[in-house]
Amino acid sequence: MPEEAAPAGPAPRQHHRPAPHSAPQALPLDLADLITSRDTRIVVCCGAGGVGKTTTSAALALAAAEAGRSVVVLTIDPARRLAQSLGLVELDNEPRRVDVPGAPGELHAMMLDMKRTFDDIVVAHSTPERAEQILENPFYVALSSSFAGTQEYMAMEKLGQLRASEQWDLIIVDTPPSRSALDFLDAPNRMSRFLDGTMIRLLTAPARAGGRAGMRFVSAGFLVFSRIISKVLGGQLLRDISAFVSALDTMFGGFRERATATYELLRRPGTWFLVVATPEPDALREASYFVDRLSAEEMPLAGLVLNRTHPPATTALSATRADGAAEEVLEAGGEGAELAAGALRVHAERMTLAAREQRLADRFTSAHPEVAVRTVPAAAGDVHDLDGLRVMADALTGPDGDTPTGVPRTRVLPARRS
Ligand SMILES: Nc1ncnc2c1ncn2[C@@H]1O[C@H](COP(=O)(O)OP(=O)(O)O)[C@@H](O)[C@H]1O
Ligand SMILES: [Mg+2]
Repeated sequence: MPEEAAPAGPAPRQHHRPAPHSAPQALPLDLADLITSRDTRIVVCCGAGGVGKTTTSAALALAAAEAGRSVVVLTIDPARRLAQSLGLVELDNEPRRVDVPGAPGELHAMMLDMKRTFDDIVVAHSTPERAEQILENPFYVALSSSFAGTQEYMAMEKLGQLRASEQWDLIIVDTPPSRSALDFLDAPNRMSRFLDGTMIRLLTAPARAGGRAGMRFVSAGFLVFSRIISKVLGGQLLRDISAFVSALDTMFGGFRERATATYELLRRPGTWFLVVATPEPDALREASYFVDRLSAEEMPLAGLVLNRTHPPATTALSATRADGAAEEVLEAGGEGAELAAGALRVHAERMTLAAREQRLADRFTSAHPEVAVRTVPAAAGDVHDLDGLRVMADALTGPDGDTPTGVPRTRVLPARRS
């Protein structure tokens, strides 16, 4: 055996790592306590797109039901198979009971249908023929299904409705796949700003002032402006907007009031925000931003779920030593050498990946030492059924140090000893 390649001595690459004392320690996040506490009434999962907000929401709801609570999870865009396994095959915009055999509590799930929620509000707040007018208005159709922020706004609406019904003791809210973390919190304001907007007021001034007769109160300059806008946007669209806003006028106050009420609801005791991220720069940047934003708005943050981490099966062997050992095994040759070297290399890659993930997590914790963290390992495949959700729920709510490697669930790799 070539002695010179032997993985000699402890921690051979110490100089590549940051000084040990700089490694920040994240606080543990006790999600079992959060979701079982009777004081917790609303949990909002937010974060960048694709990080696991919907899955986390569903897994926490399942855990809560299995802990005896009556819970409803409001999902926004569940992956198809997850929706199916929760019985959410139709968009009926109302919660449905999910059968969880043996659970002492109740799990209900619903998928937000943004347009239906919007339609319901229109119907509830206007006369039947007025409602029909609005619902058929092409501008309304476009706004209710595609206006940026509508989905966020409707999620807030629905949350307000679910909470007001007092039917559940815990509501878990998934949030839309916003490009910007700002969107969810901004939705109510943006919606009222939109309805209130100067542009809309200008465009609809003639209609508001009472059709043609009102025209004489409008300046000549505005008429020119209006004609140009008409040309650009098309006369029909302008008339649509005009009719829509006039019709919506009656409900105007209602929108804003409820948006404000829901916003206040989010700030009340009993509501907790959970920021979800994956150990990737973009997702963690978004998480950072969300943490700052929540604190600026004085919204209560429970902590960060660091989802889809890749902890190695053992942390006893470093990447460097595993790579060294792989070479050694290959050089020595013999039966099974390739296989053993391959396994060692896989371990080395996994250790390198975990170290990278840990570095990113450490950077987050350095910036936000007050934010509690829970890591959730990546499952082998997608999480699309109750069994998968249960595994994820255990990772989210299980005892802190109870991992295969004994590494606390605030981390991907063990903390460096100073
Ligand atoms: N811990 C995990 N392990 C493996 N796959 C996961 C995990 N968490 C989420 N996923 C998968 O990642 C995808 C995105 O998750 P999803 O919850 O829909 O994200 P988001 O709601 O944030 O957009 C889904 O296919 C889901 O099954
Ligand atoms: Mg989602």
